[in-house]
Amino acid sequence: MILGGMRMSEPELIRQALEARKNAYAPYSGFFVGAALLCEDGSVFRGCNIENAAYTPTNCAERTAFFKAVSEGKRSFVKIAIVGGHENEMAAPSPCGVCLQVMSEFCDAKSFEVIMAESEKKYTVKKLGELLPYGFSL
Ligand code: THU
Repeated sequence: MILGGMRMSEPELIRQALEARKNAYAPYSGFFVGAALLCEDGSVFRGCNIENAAYTPTNCAERTAFFKAVSEGKRSFVKIAIVGGHENEMAAPSPCGVCLQVMSEFCDAKSFEVIMAESEKKYTVKKLGELLPYGFSL
């Protein structure tokens, strides 16, 4: 956990995601992803993708960041930055449906922001509700 501040800028959060990507474990896909999740209290939780030889146990970077934060008692979130790509070729990954559903469990669809970044300068920001307009809830 890193202390950032509620007003952490988009490029700063992207920088944290780029740091997280350095720990990505992706020997099967070769697609390395990093995420940085800003909590309401200003703390930042980083995550990376963690693949597995059996494939399905793979955990995405976004869920790693969320599960780290929730397991440390956090419940209120502001935004998440995501970066990814093959070794020397960055893309701006859009979170998978499973990760969006995890986000929708804890975040307000109208206000929580998803930053999909290729670099600190090149990124797109969408509200969670734009990416998952009909998330499942009980
Ligand atoms: N992956 C993520 O970690 N986040 C995304 O937003 C998209 C996909 C991972 C899963 C897998 O390890 C690799 O990227 C290729 O799908």
